[in-house]
Amino acid sequence: MNCVLDHRKVDSNDVRMVFDWSMDEATRENSLNTSGFAYEEHQKWFERKLKDPEYHILIYMDGEVPVGMLRIERTSEGGLISIAVSPDHRGKGYGEKMLACASQFANDLKYQKLVAQIWSENKASIQIFERNAYEFESEFELEDGRTFKQYIRKL
Ligand SMILES: CC(C)(COP(=O)(O)OP(=O)(O)OC[C@H]1O[C@@H](n2cnc3c(N)ncnc32)[C@H](O)[C@@H]1OP(=O)(O)O)[C@@H](O)C(=O)NCCC(=O)NCCS
Repeated sequence: MNCVLDHRKVDSNDVRMVFDWSMDEATRENSLNTSGFAYEEHQKWFERKLKDPEYHILIYMDGEVPVGMLRIERTSEGGLISIAVSPDHRGKGYGEKMLACASQFANDLKYQKLVAQIWSENKASIQIFERNAYEFESEFELEDGRTFKQYIRKL
């Protein structure tokens, strides 16, 4: 699939929207850290990430409407990727479109590999990553008993 969505980098005006999308119940349930964080903590984290050249937060746009965000962080394994579709725009296929755009963005950054860690029960996410040529690599268990699947995509 080709990338059909525009994106822009986040800026300091997006701090609240990124918090709302991150703290949404489904996003938390699907994250490694289910408990989340206070807004003040988020603000500090966000300011740090805006200055970090190895951390990218992109907002995907459908026309004038922000529909989701992507985070890519450089790690020793490659680009660690995570996505969240705006709660108002789930179930419309945006997640899959965002992943197609993410691969293009990661290519431009000269990443060799993208890595995604997905809760085993997150069927919608597993489906869209597999459709975007991510391959299952391994599984790990958290202290709370949940298992996550690690998927990789070679670029
Ligand atoms: C998971 C998420 C990224 C999916 O994006 P989305 O744009 O809402 O995806 P869609 O609703 O188009 O669903 C993708 C596919 O999964 C299917 N799907 C949705 N819910 C499902 C479920 N519970 N079980 C099985 N398949 C499901 C859809 O039917 C669709 O398949 P189709 O195109 O054949 O109909 C999005 O819902 C989200 O941001 N959730 C919260 C945060 C999160 O989980 N992020 C991912 C962390 S790895």
